[in-house]
Amino acid sequence: KTGLVTLDPGFVNTAACSSQITYIDGDAGILRYRGYPIEQLAEQSNFIEVSYLLIYGELPTRTQLDDFAQKISRHTLLHEDLKRFFDGFPRDAHPMPVLSSAVSALSTFYQDSLTPFDDSQVDLSTIRLLAKLPTIAAYAYKKSVGQPFLYPDNSLGLVENFLRMTFGFPAEPYHVDPVMAKALDQLFILHADHEQNCSTSTVRLVGSSQANLFASISAGINALFGPLHGGANQAVLEMLEGIERDGGDVDTFVRKVKNREAGVKLMGFGHRVYKNYDPRAAIIKKTADEVLGKLGDDQLLEIAKRLEERALGDDYFIERKLYPNVDFYTGLIYRAMGFPTRMFTVLFAIGRLPGWIAHWREMMKDPATKIGRPRQVYVGPGERTYVPVTER
Ligand code: SDX
Repeated sequence: KTGLVTLDPGFVNTAACSSQITYIDGDAGILRYRGYPIEQLAEQSNFIEVSYLLIYGELPTRTQLDDFAQKISRHTLLHEDLKRFFDGFPRDAHPMPVLSSAVSALSTFYQDSLTPFDDSQVDLSTIRLLAKLPTIAAYAYKKSVGQPFLYPDNSLGLVENFLRMTFGFPAEPYHVDPVMAKALDQLFILHADHEQNCSTSTVRLVGSSQANLFASISAGINALFGPLHGGANQAVLEMLEGIERDGGDVDTFVRKVKNREAGVKLMGFGHRVYKNYDPRAAIIKKTADEVLGKLGDDQLLEIAKRLEERALGDDYFIERKLYPNVDFYTGLIYRAMGFPTRMFTVLFAIGRLPGWIAHWREMMKDPATKIGRPRQVYVGPGERTYVPVTER
């Protein structure tokens, strides 16, 4: 029962999953976390509070929020043996497989997390993941640039701690830029959940076998890595850099897309659900204007805006209902903050983590929301008789 309609359990297991977490209206461009409009949360809340809302279903009281934030700050450290994991990866390793490997390995350090569903253990695994994923992400970046790892500083908030571990150096104090921290916190909110997308469905499906939370989240990270899903923000930047190299000629690029030359797509456009402007993209575009103005203007933003204007005036895109999605402007902000493009999908994963956790917990608690074993329509050959290889 979703409160909107009563779904027959059999229907739920075969066609779709019911959930009480996120509501999307793709035609109207509506996105709500636990009933709260994304626009209000992006403007008035913060990432820790939105994480609590998604996972526990209600906005926390002051005491609940302080307790949640304090627990997270107490778990930001990685086990020293897990830190040694990073020595084994090649220096030019893409940070996404590093992230999924390290998250999967967490269940080797916390064997009690293997109990399928014990409330206190799941709460502890929840806190450990929210606290350690930013640390793992920062270390993956430091490994790729050959710089020393910084231990977390528990006097800082989650986002500030992450920025310091990523861009700070042991030799000198690091001052977190409040503009960067606020913009990154908002981007994490905007990425925090999005109903049953590819990676979230992966987390639910893997968890439906009673695989533990770390294993399920690791699977979600791998699904997010795909360029048509979370990898799109990296692909958008590469697309804009290509147009810049071609002298900023958006008309030629649009022509290639329409002629489907070498599978060229307008990355950051289109959506399986939104057949209108992605409400997150509208908020991110506004943030991009603010942040890029402060962090150093970005000529790629000018190209992106011309590209959007060109596409939104073109019947090819309008007929196919292709509008900017969450990834179109995000990468420009990450780039202005100093993140390399390979870290963009890692940032998407940090933002999406509370949504993945919320869906895993909901599925484990309420069988009606479980993705059953998907059935198929068999379209292969009918029964045949074996022919020995000597007679083929
Ligand atoms: C995310 O599900 C989620 O919620 C995902 C996400 C989340 O928060 O978890 O929102 C995050 O993944 C956002 C999407 C990021 N991906 C991209 O930006 C990659 C580029 N986009 C496309 O790959 C595509 O738009 C999809 C995969 C996102 C959605 O594809 P659809 O809606 O299933 O559309 P389709 O692939 O069936 O294409 C319909 C038509 C086709 O043309 P025709 O064959 O009908 O002539 O539109 C065309 C496609 O060729 N098309 C595009 C296009 N996307 C679709 N043409 C050019 N550029 C594009 N980006």
